[in-house]
Amino acid sequence: LANESNINDANQVLNIAHRGASGYAPENTMAAFEKAVDMKADMFELDVQMSKDGELVVIHDTTVDRTTDGTGKVGDLTYDELQKLDAGSFFSEEFHGERIPTLGDVLDEYRGKTGILIEVKSPSLYPGIEEKIAEELEKRNLDKPNNDKIIVQSFDHDSVQTFHSILPDVPVGVLLSYSSNGISDQQLTEFASYAEYVNPSKNMMDAELVSRIHDFDMETHPWTVRDRESAQFLLEIGADGIITDYPDYVEPRQ
Ligand code: G3P
Ligand code: CA
Repeated sequence: LANESNINDANQVLNIAHRGASGYAPENTMAAFEKAVDMKADMFELDVQMSKDGELVVIHDTTVDRTTDGTGKVGDLTYDELQKLDAGSFFSEEFHGERIPTLGDVLDEYRGKTGILIEVKSPSLYPGIEEKIAEELEKRNLDKPNNDKIIVQSFDHDSVQTFHSILPDVPVGVLLSYSSNGISDQQLTEFASYAEYVNPSKNMMDAELVSRIHDFDMETHPWTVRDRESAQFLLEIGADGIITDYPDYVEPRQ
């Protein structure tokens, strides 16, 4: 595993391809995940939701409208219906025919080759999704302490805690949207009781927040970098990972 030594090394920053290398290929498709690996990202991030018939599918929006040639809510469509959609052409004709992958497809293809950061997207729409994700990991023996090669995160912190109670050995992260109030010590104490990662919007980040997160024995993977300056800034303030659409914008820390 070429990049294994990068994972959790204090002198390194994890280069995390957002929805795959989504600056270069259609987000959340095998093409984007393949591109992330080609570009030597340490991990890629993906978003998981559930089809009407209970299949775990990898897509960001709660409707298929923006990224496919179909319409409707992800949770109103069966896996068969989702599978027929073209999830590549919205990005470029070159990717015509890319499909919405299942979480299982992605784990089978990339486990052991790269780290995978799984975001549970809008879990309140999909009761039981944490249990299903746990089953997919268990089936593949990915439910053991795994050197952070698999991380599960969500903006829904109840969902993160539910997942953590099912598979306590898989590291979890809390996602935070920008808030002008910052993050209190009380919040950090609460997060530290179950999570290994606090992953805020990059717009909240500064060196002080990085060191406070470290003081609580957690690490931080801010999101989402789409320009070189932000990548450089996050590197300088000591972020542990950088979630980016453009893996080539993240220079390895010297
Ligand atoms: O991994 C963090 C980032 O993906 C959160 O925002 O909207 O891209 O899922 P979003
Ligand atoms: Ca995401």
